[in-house]
Amino acid sequence: MAFSLTINGQRHTVDVDSDTPLLWVIRDEVGLKGTKFGCGAGLCGACTVHVNGQPARSCSTPVASVDGASVTTIEGLSEDGQLHPLQQAWIDQGVPQCGYCQSGQIMTAAHLLNNNPSPSRQDIVTAMTGNLCRCGTYSRIVAAVEAVAGSVGHYQPAGEDA
Ligand code: FES
Ligand code: FES
Repeated sequence: MAFSLTINGQRHTVDVDSDTPLLWVIRDEVGLKGTKFGCGAGLCGACTVHVNGQPARSCSTPVASVDGASVTTIEGLSEDGQLHPLQQAWIDQGVPQCGYCQSGQIMTAAHLLNNNPSPSRQDIVTAMTGNLCRCGTYSRIVAAVEAVAGSVGHYQPAGEDA
């Protein structure tokens, strides 16, 4: 069946089964590899994208349910070759370790800041709760989001003086 989606501002028509997860449309049909497969069951957040401005777990979103939708992936966050402020903060704060979960983390953080430009630390922790990281980058993620939000956040490893 044919489905049409706007992905990062570009219209794409794909011919796939109606229950094909959006993740595989993004990766295999459109060729954008920044969105990752983690658990495949809606539990880890590695596959997070925005669908009509809302975060969605693309591994468990059938393409038929998003026909005609506007999708943003990690590749669509930057504009005109400029990194999104969150991407720059991720670099500045040295957030990623293996990196596998990080595009999903950034997409969740971007949705938070779109809706709450000045989140408290608790707001950030609450918003990011559903995105798992096996490498344990959580403290740096909070610091990076705080940096973009104009808060104090600069990650200080335990035992090191500021
Ligand atoms: S891969 Fe989609 S939530 Fe884990
Ligand atoms: S950076 Fe490795 S899983 Fe998050």
